[in-house]
Amino acid sequence: MEKIILKDIPDLDKIDVYIANGGYTGLKKALTGMTPDQVIDEVKKSGLKGRGGACFSTGMKWSFMPKGNEKPKILCCNGDESEPGSFKDREIFEKNPQQFIEGSLIAAYAMGIGAIYVYIRGEYWKWINIMEEAVAEAYKKGMIGKNIMGTDFSCEMYVHMGAGAYICGEETSLMNSLEGKRGYPRFKPPFPAVNGVWGNPTTINNIETLANVPEIINKGGEWFSKIGDPRQPGTLLFGVSGDVNKPGVYELPTGIPLIELINDHCGGVIGGKEIKMVIPGGSSMPPLNREEALTVRMDNESLKEIGSYIGTAGVIVMAEGTDVVNVIRRVTKFYYHESCGQCTPCREGCGWMLKVLNRIMDGKGRMSDLDLLISIAENIEGNTICALGDAAAWPVKWAVRKFRKDFEAKITDKTIELPVLNKVHGLMKSPDEYDTITLQSEQEVVKELMGNVQELTQSEDVKRFSS
Ligand SMILES: Cc1cc2nc3c(=O)[nH]c(=O)nc-3n(C[C@H](O)[C@H](O)[C@H](O)COP(=O)(O)O)c2cc1C
Ligand code: SF4
Repeated sequence: MEKIILKDIPDLDKIDVYIANGGYTGLKKALTGMTPDQVIDEVKKSGLKGRGGACFSTGMKWSFMPKGNEKPKILCCNGDESEPGSFKDREIFEKNPQQFIEGSLIAAYAMGIGAIYVYIRGEYWKWINIMEEAVAEAYKKGMIGKNIMGTDFSCEMYVHMGAGAYICGEETSLMNSLEGKRGYPRFKPPFPAVNGVWGNPTTINNIETLANVPEIINKGGEWFSKIGDPRQPGTLLFGVSGDVNKPGVYELPTGIPLIELINDHCGGVIGGKEIKMVIPGGSSMPPLNREEALTVRMDNESLKEIGSYIGTAGVIVMAEGTDVVNVIRRVTKFYYHESCGQCTPCREGCGWMLKVLNRIMDGKGRMSDLDLLISIAENIEGNTICALGDAAAWPVKWAVRKFRKDFEAKITDKTIELPVLNKVHGLMKSPDEYDTITLQSEQEVVKELMGNVQELTQSEDVKRFSS
């Protein structure tokens, strides 16, 4: 299949190679042969939907920007990419940064924008450096700046280093962060197109969304609309991680069966194991069980039919033997830590879910905890300023519903696993190097630990140390 973004062209990250392979012809076509409205219509015709998680129509979003020049307009390119399991935008920065830059400039032209901010998470030094260099190269070639390609269109581009928080990827929080304020999401309305960065009309788009635009302008919206599932056309950069033999980023048409992605592209599940659970679009998306994973197609509408979403297309595969309760506990810990704390349901609810999950993991769970978890999740969902609340609630609610037996087993089975090989020293080694034993009661745990201590104090190491 022909790739739209991660093309198999060596050194495509270099601007000369990009130009030699048809780069910046989309921008030229737009600037010299199309009105801004025609560009927006072409993007609408393509059916392109945002790749940042919400899957909103890109052409529609662009058409919300007010016409006229009373205030400067701004485009924010969202490269925060901090959701666990999502790692595809950085692949664009590395492999084809100029196509993203070109797409942003076409977007700016279509919306009458004069300033573009590329927002990248502060810790992502590698990609910040890459993008600063790529933007500087594009300036040198006259692709960014005053009178681009000899036309009346002028636009500046800045790479902005974020402060390092998952919440700063949420569009209104990103705007606050860009203004130098705390990364707190804003109430909507007013929407960014009306009142965005520094009170100016603003559009926020994901990096992958924008990287699709040059080819849409070059080859036409109709061409793009025929790729993949017509309800969400184009390709997706699937970032596959977890228990697969070949994790990585794979550009494939939307609507590809998940099992084909796992088996044919990612080399199958490690050790030939069965699938236990798959999170289809970054850690916030409702997880899929084995039956669903075997049959679902990877586009937003197909996933919606079974109660999930495509999100960022960050696919986390977990094999049989995975401790589902522990995975959900870990995911919840992340959202609890990342909640900005503005809304009570999210701030308190994430903590409550974590406490209950910790209790279950500690062998002190009650059967009523399962309905309690669903109830807390449902009280968060839809009751918060931003979608981080939903992101925290969905994995818990759906995991309890779909993997209830695993949760029940954790509650009824009071076993605890302790490392036995090399005792205390063994804890410093990799988990593969020690076995575990299963204990049934607190007394057994105490006895085993005391045994460890006794053995340790009599060990040669300790004797040598004390002599
Ligand atoms: C907590 C949270 C974090 C988000 N992080 C990102 C992110 O890192 N990158 C991104 O493009 N969108 C992120 N989004 C979605 C953005 O708010 C927004 O919908 C997106 O950038 C719009 O671009 P698109 O229409 O091109 O998808 C996040 C949303 C939430 C609620
Ligand atoms: S939902 Fe959570 S992260 Fe979003 S504004 Fe409310 S408290 Fe902050």
